[in-house]
Amino acid sequence: MTATTLDAALDLIAEIPDFPEPGVLFRDLTPLFGDAEAFAAVIEALGAAVGYDVDRLVAVEARGFVLAAALGYARRLGVALVRKPGKLPNVAGRVDYALEYGQATLELPVGSVHEGQRVAIVDDVLATGGTVAATAELVRSAGAVVTGVAVVLELADLGARERLPGLPVHALRTV
Ligand code: PRP
Repeated sequence: MTATTLDAALDLIAEIPDFPEPGVLFRDLTPLFGDAEAFAAVIEALGAAVGYDVDRLVAVEARGFVLAAALGYARRLGVALVRKPGKLPNVAGRVDYALEYGQATLELPVGSVHEGQRVAIVDDVLATGGTVAATAELVRSAGAVVTGVAVVLELADLGARERLPGLPVHALRTV
Protein backbone atom coordinates (compact mmCIF):
# COMPACT_ATOMS: atom_id res chain seq x y z
CA MET A 1 0.00 0.00 0.00
CA THR A 2 1.14 3.53 -0.69
CA ALA A 3 -0.07 6.40 1.48
CA THR A 4 -0.08 9.76 -0.28
CA THR A 5 -1.36 12.12 2.38
CA LEU A 6 -0.39 12.72 5.98
CA ASP A 7 -3.75 11.48 7.21
CA ALA A 8 -3.43 8.29 5.22
CA ALA A 9 0.08 7.87 6.55
CA LEU A 10 -1.05 8.27 10.15
CA ASP A 11 -3.90 5.84 9.53
CA LEU A 12 -1.22 3.16 9.08
CA ILE A 13 -0.34 3.26 12.79
CA ALA A 14 -1.52 -0.04 14.22
CA GLU A 15 -3.14 -0.57 17.61
CA ILE A 16 -2.13 -3.69 19.49
CA PRO A 17 -4.19 -4.46 22.60
CA ASP A 18 -2.60 -5.75 25.79
CA PHE A 19 1.04 -5.12 24.87
CA PRO A 20 3.45 -5.02 26.58
CA GLU A 21 1.07 -5.56 29.49
CA PRO A 22 -2.64 -6.32 29.86
CA GLY A 23 -4.67 -3.14 29.55
CA VAL A 24 -2.09 -1.22 27.49
CA LEU A 25 -2.97 -0.35 23.88
CA PHE A 26 0.37 -0.38 22.06
CA ARG A 27 0.76 1.99 19.08
CA ASP A 28 2.88 0.37 16.40
CA LEU A 29 4.44 2.58 13.72
CA THR A 30 5.95 -0.40 11.87
CA PRO A 31 3.45 -0.23 8.96
CA LEU A 32 4.08 3.51 8.62
CA PHE A 33 7.86 3.05 8.60
CA GLY A 34 7.42 0.35 5.97
CA ASP A 35 5.53 2.54 3.51
CA ALA A 36 7.94 4.84 1.65
CA GLU A 37 5.41 7.55 0.82
CA ALA A 38 3.87 7.49 4.29
CA PHE A 39 7.29 7.74 5.88
CA ALA A 40 8.21 10.66 3.64
CA ALA A 41 4.94 12.47 4.45
CA VAL A 42 5.56 12.06 8.16
CA ILE A 43 9.17 13.25 7.97
CA GLU A 44 8.06 16.31 6.00
CA ALA A 45 5.38 17.12 8.58
CA LEU A 46 7.79 16.60 11.47
CA GLY A 47 10.15 19.06 9.79
CA ALA A 48 7.43 21.68 9.76
CA ALA A 49 6.67 20.91 13.41
CA VAL A 50 10.31 21.33 14.41
CA GLY A 51 10.58 24.67 12.61
CA TYR A 52 13.80 26.40 11.56
CA ASP A 53 15.02 27.97 14.80
CA VAL A 54 16.86 24.81 15.73
CA ASP A 55 20.38 23.52 15.24
CA ARG A 56 20.24 19.97 16.59
CA LEU A 57 17.78 17.13 16.95
CA VAL A 58 17.66 14.82 19.96
CA ALA A 59 16.03 11.42 19.63
CA VAL A 60 15.27 8.64 22.08
CA GLU A 61 16.10 4.96 21.51
CA ALA A 62 14.78 3.20 19.58
CA ARG A 63 11.92 4.34 17.37
CA GLY A 64 12.81 7.99 17.79
CA PHE A 65 16.12 7.23 16.08
CA VAL A 66 14.38 6.26 12.83
CA LEU A 67 12.49 9.53 12.66
CA ALA A 68 15.32 11.82 13.76
CA ALA A 69 17.83 10.20 11.41
CA ALA A 70 15.61 10.81 8.40
CA LEU A 71 14.70 14.32 9.50
CA GLY A 72 18.31 15.18 10.32
CA TYR A 73 19.37 14.10 6.85
CA ALA A 74 16.55 15.99 5.17
CA ARG A 75 17.24 19.18 7.10
CA ARG A 76 21.02 18.84 7.47
CA LEU A 77 20.76 18.77 11.26
CA GLY A 78 22.97 16.70 13.53
CA VAL A 79 21.26 14.16 15.74
CA ALA A 80 22.02 13.36 19.38
CA LEU A 81 21.05 9.82 20.37
CA VAL A 82 19.68 9.43 23.90
CA ARG A 83 20.24 5.81 24.92
CA LYS A 84 18.82 3.26 27.29
CA PRO A 85 21.28 2.28 30.03
CA GLY A 86 24.40 0.22 29.52
CA LYS A 87 25.05 1.24 25.90
CA LEU A 88 27.37 4.21 26.24
CA PRO A 89 31.07 4.31 27.05
CA ASN A 90 30.91 8.00 28.00
CA VAL A 91 27.80 9.28 29.77
CA ALA A 92 27.24 13.03 30.09
CA GLY A 93 24.02 12.67 32.08
CA ARG A 94 21.58 10.07 33.35
CA VAL A 95 17.90 10.40 34.35
CA ASP A 96 15.58 7.82 35.91
CA TYR A 97 11.86 8.23 35.24
CA ALA A 98 8.49 6.45 35.28
CA LEU A 99 6.92 5.02 32.10
CA GLU A 100 3.26 4.24 31.41
CA TYR A 101 4.34 0.68 32.13
CA GLY A 102 7.36 0.41 34.43
CA GLN A 103 10.53 2.37 35.09
CA ALA A 104 13.22 3.54 32.73
CA THR A 105 16.58 5.26 32.59
CA LEU A 106 18.01 7.38 29.78
CA GLU A 107 21.57 8.48 29.17
CA LEU A 108 23.02 11.28 27.04
CA PRO A 109 26.37 10.62 25.30
CA VAL A 110 29.25 12.96 26.08
CA GLY A 111 29.67 15.56 23.35
CA SER A 112 26.32 14.98 21.65
CA VAL A 113 24.72 18.25 22.77
CA HIS A 114 26.64 21.48 23.28
CA GLU A 115 26.10 24.49 25.51
CA GLY A 116 23.86 27.07 23.88
CA GLN A 117 22.55 24.78 21.14
CA ARG A 118 18.89 25.01 20.22
CA VAL A 119 17.58 21.48 20.32
CA ALA A 120 14.31 19.90 19.23
CA ILE A 121 13.24 16.55 20.67
CA VAL A 122 11.81 14.06 18.17
CA ASP A 123 9.98 10.85 19.06
CA ASP A 124 7.28 8.57 17.73
CA VAL A 125 4.75 8.54 20.56
CA LEU A 126 4.08 10.94 23.43
CA ALA A 127 2.27 9.02 26.16
CA THR A 128 2.87 10.04 29.79
CA GLY A 129 5.57 12.49 28.70
CA GLY A 130 8.10 10.87 31.01
CA THR A 131 10.51 10.07 28.19
CA VAL A 132 10.40 13.58 26.75
CA ALA A 133 10.65 15.19 30.20
CA ALA A 134 13.73 13.08 30.98
CA THR A 135 15.24 13.92 27.60
CA ALA A 136 14.61 17.63 28.11
CA GLU A 137 16.30 17.39 31.51
CA LEU A 138 19.35 15.75 29.93
CA VAL A 139 19.55 18.38 27.19
CA ARG A 140 19.23 21.24 29.64
CA SER A 141 21.81 19.74 31.96
CA ALA A 142 24.24 19.93 29.03
CA GLY A 143 23.54 23.66 28.79
CA ALA A 144 21.42 23.52 25.65
CA VAL A 145 17.96 24.96 25.08
CA VAL A 146 14.98 22.77 24.21
CA THR A 147 13.01 24.62 21.52
CA GLY A 148 10.17 22.13 21.36
CA VAL A 149 8.98 18.59 20.91
CA ALA A 150 7.79 16.97 17.69
CA VAL A 151 6.04 13.61 17.84
CA VAL A 152 3.99 11.58 15.40
CA LEU A 153 1.29 10.53 17.85
CA GLU A 154 0.17 12.01 21.17
CA LEU A 155 -2.03 10.07 23.57
CA ALA A 156 -3.89 12.95 25.14
CA ASP A 157 -5.45 11.06 28.05
CA LEU A 158 -2.09 10.38 29.66
CA GLY A 159 -1.49 14.03 30.45
CA ALA A 160 1.97 14.52 28.95
CA ARG A 161 1.56 18.25 28.48
CA GLU A 162 1.21 18.83 32.22
CA ARG A 163 4.60 17.19 32.65
CA LEU A 164 6.13 19.50 30.04
CA PRO A 165 5.31 23.02 31.21
CA GLY A 166 6.50 25.78 28.92
CA LEU A 167 7.60 23.35 26.23
CA PRO A 168 5.92 23.68 22.81
CA VAL A 169 4.62 20.24 21.80
CA HIS A 170 3.68 19.50 18.19
CA ALA A 171 1.92 16.22 17.50
CA LEU A 172 0.99 15.18 13.96
CA ARG A 173 -2.01 13.36 15.41
CA THR A 174 -3.59 13.46 18.87
CA VAL A 175 -5.89 10.70 20.02
C1 PRP B 1 7.97 4.48 23.74
C2 PRP B 1 7.95 5.59 22.71
C3 PRP B 1 8.37 6.81 23.47
C4 PRP B 1 7.88 6.53 24.87
C5 PRP B 1 6.66 7.34 25.18
O1 PRP B 1 9.27 4.04 23.85
O2 PRP B 1 8.80 5.29 21.62
O3 PRP B 1 9.78 6.99 23.48
O4 PRP B 1 7.57 5.12 24.94
O5 PRP B 1 6.19 7.07 26.47
P1 PRP B 1 6.06 8.16 27.61
O6 PRP B 1 5.58 9.45 26.99
O7 PRP B 1 5.07 7.56 28.55
O8 PRP B 1 7.41 8.31 28.24
P2 PRP B 1 9.71 2.61 24.36
O9 PRP B 1 10.29 2.79 25.71
O10 PRP B 1 8.58 1.64 24.21
O11 PRP B 1 10.94 2.28 23.43
P3 PRP B 1 11.24 1.81 21.93
O12 PRP B 1 11.18 3.02 21.06
O13 PRP B 1 12.61 1.29 22.07
O14 PRP B 1 10.25 0.76 21.53
